[in-house]
Amino acid sequence: MLSKKIQKAFNEQMTFELYSGYIYMSMAAWFRTQNLDGFAAWMENHAREEVTHGMKFYTYLYDRLSSAEFGAIAKPKTTWKSPIEAVKQAFDHEQEVTRRIHELVELAENEKDHASVSFLQWFVDEQVEEEQVVDEIYSRMQLVGDFKPGLFFLDRELASSGASQA
Ligand code: FEO
Repeated sequence: MLSKKIQKAFNEQMTFELYSGYIYMSMAAWFRTQNLDGFAAWMENHAREEVTHGMKFYTYLYDRLSSAEFGAIAKPKTTWKSPIEAVKQAFDHEQEVTRRIHELVELAENEKDHASVSFLQWFVDEQVEEEQVVDEIYSRMQLVGDFKPGLFFLDRELASSGASQA
């Protein structure tokens, strides 16, 4: 069974993962209004992954004879000044997720909960990939700048391949 402290922290992270999906769905909806369907598909896929992450915590809580408790999810931003601003927010958000996952690892280590440390390792590795993928797209957007054909090309590329990554 999980300690009360870990149960509370894991429930908070489960909610935060679902909140991440909510933010990315809001971004996807905005990208649709901008006719950037490749970016939208990428964000939709990313949102689905976040729900999967939340579900991993949900399942683990019951595997450890504890229970899930869903917290409130704040209203996400609905508009952005530019596509690059939205992607930058996604990158900053992923860094925050990483920070939280690392805090959970420290908590599990302090509580000497080896099973939870092992469970969290998947998230530690996943965050390396998540930050790398978002950073790659953000960096390419910085190169493109205000050059609209470059953005169009990037959108087409995400439509054909990027939507399968997150
Ligand atoms: Fe589940 Fe993108 O962090």
